[in-house]
Amino acid sequence: MGNKKILVTGANGQLGRELQVLATSFPALDFLFYDRATLSIADPDAIDTFFARERPAYCINCAAYTAVDKAESEKESAFLINGDAVGYLATACHNTGARLIHISTDYVFDGLSEIPLRETDPTDPINTYGASKLEGERQAFQHNPHATLIIRTSWVYSEFGNNFVRTMIRLMKERPSINVVSDQVGSPTYAADLAAAILHILTAPSFIPGLYHYSNEGRISWYEFALAIREGIGSTCEVNPIPTAQYPTPAKRPRFSLLDKSLISATYHLAIPEWQSSLVTCIGKMH
Ligand SMILES: NC(=O)c1ccc[n+]([C@@H]2O[C@H](COP(=O)([O-])OP(=O)(O)OC[C@H]3O[C@@H](n4cnc5c(N)ncnc54)[C@H](OP(=O)(O)O)[C@@H]3O)[C@@H](O)[C@H]2O)c1
Repeated sequence: MGNKKILVTGANGQLGRELQVLATSFPALDFLFYDRATLSIADPDAIDTFFARERPAYCINCAAYTAVDKAESEKESAFLINGDAVGYLATACHNTGARLIHISTDYVFDGLSEIPLRETDPTDPINTYGASKLEGERQAFQHNPHATLIIRTSWVYSEFGNNFVRTMIRLMKERPSINVVSDQVGSPTYAADLAAAILHILTAPSFIPGLYHYSNEGRISWYEFALAIREGIGSTCEVNPIPTAQYPTPAKRPRFSLLDKSLISATYHLAIPEWQSSLVTCIGKMH
C-alpha cells in the first residue's frame, strides 16, 4: 500500500465508525475520515477539489441515505445521495486514478428468490431506497469502470448508531412483550466484520474490482434474530412472531434477502464469521 491515502466518506455512520476503530490497528495506512459536515458527497465541486488536493488512492464510500421508509416520501434526496453522488465520487476517482469501494444492499432484489442471491442474479427493487442504491451501482461502474468494487450487504448493525439490535435491546427493557416479523429471511451483518473485510481487500496482494456480496454466515428471520438478542442480554421479554402483513411500513421489504458470499470468499480468501458469534461480540460492546 505504501503510504497511499484512503478516503472514507460518510465516516460517522455505522460502517464508517467501525472503520475508524479498525484503522487504529493499521497505523501504516493513511486514512482520511470525512463525514457529511466536512465533505458532502452530494457536492460535486467539493468532491473534485478534495480529490485534486489529496489525491487519495482509494475512496471507501460509507455515505448513504439509509432511511428506508422516509425514502418513499423523499425520493429526490435518496436518489441524490445514493445515486448521483456516487456518480460524482466515481468520476473523481476516474479522473485521479483512484479505486472506489462502494457499499450497496440486498434491497436491489425483489425478495422472491428461494436460494441465496448471487451477484449475477437479476435485480428488481421493490422500494425507493433499493432503486436509489441500484442507481448508485450503475453510476459507480459507469463513471469508474475499471477500478470500482461494490459490496452488497444486508441487515447491518453495530455498536454505533441506530439499528435493529439497539432497538430490540431498548424495547426488551421497556416492554413485557414485543412482536417481531418472522417471514423475512436473511443474514445480519456486523459492521465491524464488514469493515474488516474491506481492510482485508485493501491489503490483499491484488485488487480485483467488480460486484460482491457480503454478510455474516447463517440464515435467520428477524424474529430469530430478536430471540438471539434476548438471549444475549439475558432478557425475559416475551417475543412473538408476526407476519409482515401485521407490521405495515411505508416501504415494502424483500421477504428473502440471503446473499451468496462464495465469490468474495473465493476471490479474496476471506473467512466470514457466523452471525451468532458476531452478535455476541457486538452485544458485549453495547450492553
Ligand atoms: N444499515 C443497513 O441495514 C444496511 C443494509 C444494507 C446496506 N447498507 C449500506 O451499507 C452502507 C453503510 O451503511 P450504514 O449502516 O453504516 O449507514 P449509516 O449508519 O446510516 O451511515 C451513513 C452515513 O452517511 C452520511 N451521509 C448522508 N448523506 C451524506 C452526504 N451527502 N455526504 C456525506 N455523508 C453523508 C450519514 O450522515 P447523517 O447521519 O448526517 O445523515 C451517515 O453518517 C450504506 O451504503 C448502506 O446503504 C446498509
